[in-house]
Amino acid sequence: MAKKTVADIDAKGKKVLMRVDFNVPQDDEGNITSDDRIVKALPTIKNVLDRGGALILMSHLGRPEGARDEAYTLKPVAERLSQLLGKKVIFANDTIGPDAKSKVKALKSGDVLLLENLRFNKEEVIKDKDAKDKPDLRTAKDNFAKELAAMADVYVDDAFGTAHRDNASMLTVPAVMQGKPRVIGFLIEKELKFLGDTINNPVRPFVAILGGAKVSDKIGVIESLINKVNRIVIGGAMAYTFLKARGKAVGDSRCEDNFMDKAGELLDRAAQLNCEVLLPPDNAVVRKLQPGAEHRIAVGDIDPGWQAVDIGPMAAREFTAKIVDAKTIVWNGPMGVFEIPPFDKGTKAVAQAVAKATQKGAKSIVGGGDSASAIEQLGLQDKISHISTGGGASLEFLEGKKFKAIDILDEK
Ligand code: 3PG
Ligand code: MG
Repeated sequence: MAKKTVADIDAKGKKVLMRVDFNVPQDDEGNITSDDRIVKALPTIKNVLDRGGALILMSHLGRPEGARDEAYTLKPVAERLSQLLGKKVIFANDTIGPDAKSKVKALKSGDVLLLENLRFNKEEVIKDKDAKDKPDLRTAKDNFAKELAAMADVYVDDAFGTAHRDNASMLTVPAVMQGKPRVIGFLIEKELKFLGDTINNPVRPFVAILGGAKVSDKIGVIESLINKVNRIVIGGAMAYTFLKARGKAVGDSRCEDNFMDKAGELLDRAAQLNCEVLLPPDNAVVRKLQPGAEHRIAVGDIDPGWQAVDIGPMAAREFTAKIVDAKTIVWNGPMGVFEIPPFDKGTKAVAQAVAKATQKGAKSIVGGGDSASAIEQLGLQDKISHISTGGGASLEFLEGKKFKAIDILDEK
């Protein structure tokens, strides 16, 4: 059944508590390097404000230790939001403290308030499974959620990037607000529709491109995708666990030895299912990973003392050839140490190939910060069908997992 959206609520004169995902990337000085997540939440924000609602926005930023930490303040986000909206954004220096409370109280129709980072409160990230047998944790999480819930008449969730978490603001707050309207925003609506349509009715060939550091993070999605896609292209550090499982020498490359058997099993199962799996035939390798590090290309085996930091030129060509003729593409995770050029070459080659396939009519979905940022750096945003604001969330969606935080919200 479809979920009610923000369009179904009566916003006028109401205090609307909206969970957004403003967990944006920042450089060392705290400058926001991509405001994509803020920009994509604007339609829902404007909708509430235009209809005379008073908006209380809440988000996390990064993973602070459950206490105030200036490195993770949402203040710069409030400033950016204010620029984008062309209106003042009131900022509270705490989340459920006296500043937030007095600013919520003074909030008028058409005002927008951003609360300080939810994760400055350790209660936000208490996991329900950990709280199960620990009543004090359960009570702490519930009490924190009740303070947030008490601020508003309506709950809106537009934090797609966090939809796979059971953070208090995502799951406990709407649970506490049962009886009041609890709806999704336009960003979540769009993400669910795009990802759902694509995965349920893919035009073939359907190609998945997976990268990133850990096989362990991606096992679930690979298990699910080998039943759905025609090809899986694997790069990034996770490739070396697969290569090692196939008897290749990987030198000092990052490798999860405890997942090697599983990796081998997945490759066997994919072969049985006629799902082609591509691993990099060559790799860029270094002795020590640092900017300006001297590198060479290792074809096949990697010598001891050397570690892979990117796929090689042959792999880039082979992967490109297997991507450009696809009609449906999902991509999550970089092919190498993308943040240290020239080890961004493989990731950029893949980005170009995805854009080219899209121009030829493929439907493409890119998720995850590094893949999206490769697309942005190359200026290819307009050549991708859908850049998801969710990394982990889009992966879990592709895996077929349910989002409890969305399930709990009102149905039409
Ligand atoms: C993300 O960027 O992955 C989301 O904002 C969720 O953050 P988290 O992985 O720290 O829970
Ligand atoms: Mg994450």
